[in-house]
Amino acid sequence: MKRLIAILLVVVMAIGLVACGSTPATTGGNSGKLIKVGFAQCKADESDWRKANTKSVQEALSKENGFELILADSNNDAAKQVADVQGFIDQEVDYIIIAAVNVDGWDTVLGNAKKAGIPVILMDRTINASEDLYVCWVGGGFYNEGVKATDWIAKRFAGKKPNIVHLQGQLGASAQVGRTQALEEAISKNGWNLLAQQTGEWSTDTAKEIMASWIQQYGDKIDCVYAENDNMADGAIQALEEAGKKVGGDDGVAIISFDANKAYLQMTLEGKINCNVECNPLLGPKVAEIIKKIEGGGQPAKKESIDETAFYYDTITQEIIDKRPY
Ligand code: AHR
Repeated sequence: MKRLIAILLVVVMAIGLVACGSTPATTGGNSGKLIKVGFAQCKADESDWRKANTKSVQEALSKENGFELILADSNNDAAKQVADVQGFIDQEVDYIIIAAVNVDGWDTVLGNAKKAGIPVILMDRTINASEDLYVCWVGGGFYNEGVKATDWIAKRFAGKKPNIVHLQGQLGASAQVGRTQALEEAISKNGWNLLAQQTGEWSTDTAKEIMASWIQQYGDKIDCVYAENDNMADGAIQALEEAGKKVGGDDGVAIISFDANKAYLQMTLEGKINCNVECNPLLGPKVAEIIKKIEGGGQPAKKESIDETAFYYDTITQEIIDKRPY
């Protein structure tokens, strides 16, 4: 009888060890089971920035690092992106990463993810939703990026009221919302003149078409182009140069850009872009670190912002560019 009780005790203890979470639901690493992650990306090839961002996540959340990454490309369609996230929930992934096309429309689907016990990590873009619907956000500060740019405009046009044309990113994207807010506040505070404002959808070609029409309309009145990403700044520069306008430098049409992709830092060195504000796309390693922290029982901070800088045509060097990672 004593022998039977001893055997039963050993069996009960063994069951207890497994049940109290000695191995998290999703382990990766030791047990060899990959951590299944659904990645809802805006539009993988939308801009140089977005390509670098997608690549960074794919490299960091690789099979070798213990992940099974499923990429859903919404083609910058906000409704499709919400459906993509619901699809991940239906597939019972372990985690969901979202680079949100639009700040709105997330409450229902994130509520479904919460009910399904699937942690959501916001990467790059922020959203208008209750903080309890996602584990954390990691990215850059779009409003502060805009302030860096408007501080440069204030210095370049000190004592003057420049005429500005504004190429916005896709309307409703938090990057557009933040950078636009910074410009509109500076225009109001300094009495600058906003000649025109329109979304260039992050696209070089769309921005070039819009800029060509503004050149027709305003000609030499344009003092400054505030383009909310490198691709649109490039489109504006192409239109200005094709119209025979002087661009950048000390006395051309001043060009503001965001993202600081390497190719456009080269244009900053050439003087074509006056001020290029960094928005770091290499967020993959931080996201992988956050997931592994959660896997290990840890809790990431609600906001994990990354430091960002700005580059200027009169101080940037080839050495700085050569050291840049993207
Ligand atoms: O969210 C970051 C923005 O999205 C980048 O500035 C832009 O290039 C991208 O499309």
